Amino acid sequence: MVGKICGTGSCLPQMIWGNEKLEEMVDTSDQWIQERTGICRRHIASEEETTAYLASKAAKKALHDAGMSPEEIELILVATISPGNIMPGIACEVQKNIGAENATCFNLNAACTGFLFALNTAQAYIAQGIYKNAIVIGAETLSNLTDWKDRSTSILFGDGAGAVVLKSVDEGTYIQVSRSIGNKGHVLTLTNRNQKKYEQNPLAEETYMRMDGKAVFQFAVTKVPEMISEVLEKAKMSKEEITWYILHQANARIIGSVARRLGENKEKFPMNIENYGNTSSASIPILLDELNKKGALKQGEWLVLAGFGAGLSCGASILKW
Ligand code: ACO
Repeated sequence: MVGKICGTGSCLPQMIWGNEKLEEMVDTSDQWIQERTGICRRHIASEEETTAYLASKAAKKALHDAGMSPEEIELILVATISPGNIMPGIACEVQKNIGAENATCFNLNAACTGFLFALNTAQAYIAQGIYKNAIVIGAETLSNLTDWKDRSTSILFGDGAGAVVLKSVDEGTYIQVSRSIGNKGHVLTLTNRNQKKYEQNPLAEETYMRMDGKAVFQFAVTKVPEMISEVLEKAKMSKEEITWYILHQANARIIGSVARRLGENKEKFPMNIENYGNTSSASIPILLDELNKKGALKQGEWLVLAGFGAGLSCGASILKW
């Protein structure tokens, strides 16, 4: 059994910050940000637009798209590194907000690869026949974790949530490869704000995201093509059979480089980073939802989803739309 994506949804905060807003905050320019990253603007959450709020809205829309009722859902997974609350897990908040009273709910942290790892987890439950219907969500309010004085990270990130509904079908394909490389974890970090040593200084420098951008860039452009080639091999498929590569939206240059390294047409790599920046675990489901709503994804087309992020972690999956 395989979980077929039968509904998608997303939710973006109302407020939009263009690059000019960042120009007011740090020594940067619209031209630098666009040339180096492809980002023009990002959505920034208000206090009311918590990660759970965005996740719940995205989940409701995905359920509506799937034509299913919340009571049919047996599993809710939320991938996030910015849950707001430690307890209760925001997957349980989503359950409450959407009325999915029959679901088992938990969060999962694999940074920007989180959605992909959560999708793998849901697929494993479905393949075992444990659950039939699931909602998998990627949701972030990274603006709460960003050091707005640090130009090397603040220009990159944005807030938002995306969700998919999976329904168990007897025949279908879901093939994945994934990797975690803990000994490279130091290149992208965010120390827990709730540790006692921060009592006197609750927002100490270490409690913002810190990143060695070049190391992450290098990791992404080498590992993502490797993962994609590996998953194609595992599926015994050629790249010509793939219609779309849905990559984590971290940097337009990374996506361009992955396409070149695979010898693939860049047109097969849709992007929306221009409008949202890097929304971490939310970027893949937000992009999926946009393409779905535009009618760009046709039944029977093969998709590769691929992500990378802190951990370090990376992975790629193949599924049929
Ligand atoms: N505005 C203007 N200049 C800047 C800025 C800025 N915002 N940031 C850096 N610079 C300067 C640097 O100081 C440097 O100046 P110098 O040449 O005088 O020393 C110059 O621009 C080039 O800096 P680099 O760091 O070499 O720029 P690079 O081309 O590597 O781009 C970037 C930086 C965009 C961060 C890139 O390395 C990148 O995208 N890395 C990957 C980031 C990523 O994908 N993170 C994923 C996170 S996933 C997760 O799990 C959360």
